[in-house]
Amino acid sequence: MIIKEPATLAVSTNKASFNYNHTKAVDELSLEVPAGISFGLLGPNGAGKTTLIRLLVGLLQPKSGSIQVLGQIPSRKMAHSIGYMPQLHSLYSELSVIQNINFFARIYGLRDKHKRAQQIEEVIKLVDLWPRRNDSVLSLSGGMKQRLSLACAIVHKPSLLLLDEPTVGLDPELRVTFWEYFTTLTKQGATLIISSHTMDDAAHCDHLAFMRRGKIIAQGSPQELRQATGHPEATLEDAFLYFIHCEVKESAS
Ligand SMILES: Nc1ncnc2c1ncn2[C@@H]1O[C@H](COP(=O)(O)OP(=O)(O)O)[C@@H](O)[C@H]1O
Ligand SMILES: [Mg+2]
Repeated sequence: MIIKEPATLAVSTNKASFNYNHTKAVDELSLEVPAGISFGLLGPNGAGKTTLIRLLVGLLQPKSGSIQVLGQIPSRKMAHSIGYMPQLHSLYSELSVIQNINFFARIYGLRDKHKRAQQIEEVIKLVDLWPRRNDSVLSLSGGMKQRLSLACAIVHKPSLLLLDEPTVGLDPELRVTFWEYFTTLTKQGATLIISSHTMDDAAHCDHLAFMRRGKIIAQGSPQELRQATGHPEATLEDAFLYFIHCEVKESAS
């Protein structure tokens, strides 16, 4: 008999909850994300996506329930294997592009100077900011800051990337470039968890979780979620509305 090995989990949460005073931002949420996939957290503003990502990074601790990330309770000690791009970028405006990436590379534990310089150059070129490398962040456009934030999150080649709405404000061409890169990363074995409220991002993910009011109301591949509506032509937007409708009906009965 062949016993199938369970897939390695990059993330697992068990009834994890977090509230800000009276607001339940993440509500008894259980989730398993296998390693090596792109996992999309989809939901409207206020659904709890940012809070969940901050819990996974270890910036917040659950009030109840448990969380494991790469087999451990999330903490700052895991910085070398996690890349985090916050929703509001945390760049240093007075520093240059290259100085910002260098700063994050050091925080993430890239100590070897030669290797650090090499990876910084690679990542600046990837986000197409090489000609602007010595300019201060103050002089960059919104889209450039977005690209720089991504560069800061990936410079140390993390095995788990948590990106909070990374494609907001990107023009369509750049969005395609970002997704090409994300796909390359998952093919190399990295895990990507990305939050978004656009169905355009959703379509690129291997697996999606629809979030609403701190809970996951449905999950599956984009195709599975569309098929669940029973309409062959259904879009992901239709699927999301369908699951909200099911949930509302259930809570009313
Ligand atoms: N720092 C905070 N203080 C109080 N309430 C917050 C704070 N951050 C988020 N919230 C509330 O928690 C809920 C979830 O927010 P958030 O995790 O930011 O959702 P999303 O990222 O999906 O927009 C919302 O009701 C929001 O108003
Ligand atoms: Mg958010």
